[in-house]
Amino acid sequence: MFEITGKIALVTGGVSGIGLAISQELLRNGLKAIVLVDVNEVLGQKVLGEMKEEFGSDKVLFLKADVREKESLEEAFNFAVQSFQHLDIVINAAGILTERKIENTIATNLNGTIYGTLLAFEGYLPKYKKGTEGVILNIASTTGLEPFDCAPIYSCTKWGVVGFTRCLGTERQYKRNNIKVLALCPGFTNTPSLPVVKDKDDFINFNYQTFFESTTKSVILQPASHVAKAAMWAISQGESGSMWVVTDNEPVYEAKFEDRKLFPV
Ligand SMILES: NC(=O)c1ccc[n+]([C@@H]2O[C@H](COP(=O)([O-])OP(=O)(O)OC[C@H]3O[C@@H](n4cnc5c(N)ncnc54)[C@H](O)[C@@H]3O)[C@@H](O)[C@H]2O)c1
Repeated sequence: MFEITGKIALVTGGVSGIGLAISQELLRNGLKAIVLVDVNEVLGQKVLGEMKEEFGSDKVLFLKADVREKESLEEAFNFAVQSFQHLDIVINAAGILTERKIENTIATNLNGTIYGTLLAFEGYLPKYKKGTEGVILNIASTTGLEPFDCAPIYSCTKWGVVGFTRCLGTERQYKRNNIKVLALCPGFTNTPSLPVVKDKDDFINFNYQTFFESTTKSVILQPASHVAKAAMWAISQGESGSMWVVTDNEPVYEAKFEDRKLFPV
């Protein structure tokens, strides 16, 4: 079991929605300090002030960085270890849901998660973790486990996040450096990003918008705080390579995959 108490975390997309809720929940669970990383500087400064007031001024830092650019994200990792000397937990939560700007969606959701995971797994966590183990939690989606035909670009980035996370989460990867890599797959969650997709320009064309409207008519919008509690479970209890589903405001459970061995690992 991974112990959150006394550890240092870095969270991308940490000033809104699911990333923010996870950051708050980590601090409520005894985290020593957190670095919030986000491209939205205005919101970042506002949230930084609120978080300092709630948790203490020595507990929270914010740095503007863009996960689409590896150098920008690396500056955030450097900032974290220079500020707190350690780094134990990395949450890759930055993400967008727009279908028309294909390259931007892939760059943010997939490339950003790959950069964040590799920086953490191959460098910062093995070098700077305080205890014996470090954790990388990637925020994928239920749309990365089954086809979400209203938003295929978004969905395929999340399939990519699931696949990449599972590649880095194998037993022999874990044995290299004691860093567990796992993902959380939330269903529809009430965050500022969701209404954005209701704009017709966010869909490939009208057919996809119609699909979205009929799919989302009866969904349960769970609160981000529920997803954050599931994240605590995954961070502390989950094994490397595991995928955790939290949807419809129900208890978190592990996604199971067919046990296929097509090549030796
Ligand atoms: N809301 C949902 O229903 C839902 C469901 C499943 C998965 N997710 C995933 O959860 C994560 C968080 O989404 P959310 O719903 O909380 O959205 P959100 O918009 O509330 O938060 C996303 C944050 O990411 C930041 N961000 C966007 N692009 C960035 C970039 N290039 N560099 C750095 N930061 C950037 C935004 O500024 C924002 O603060 C995303 O990966 C999303 O795909 C959301």
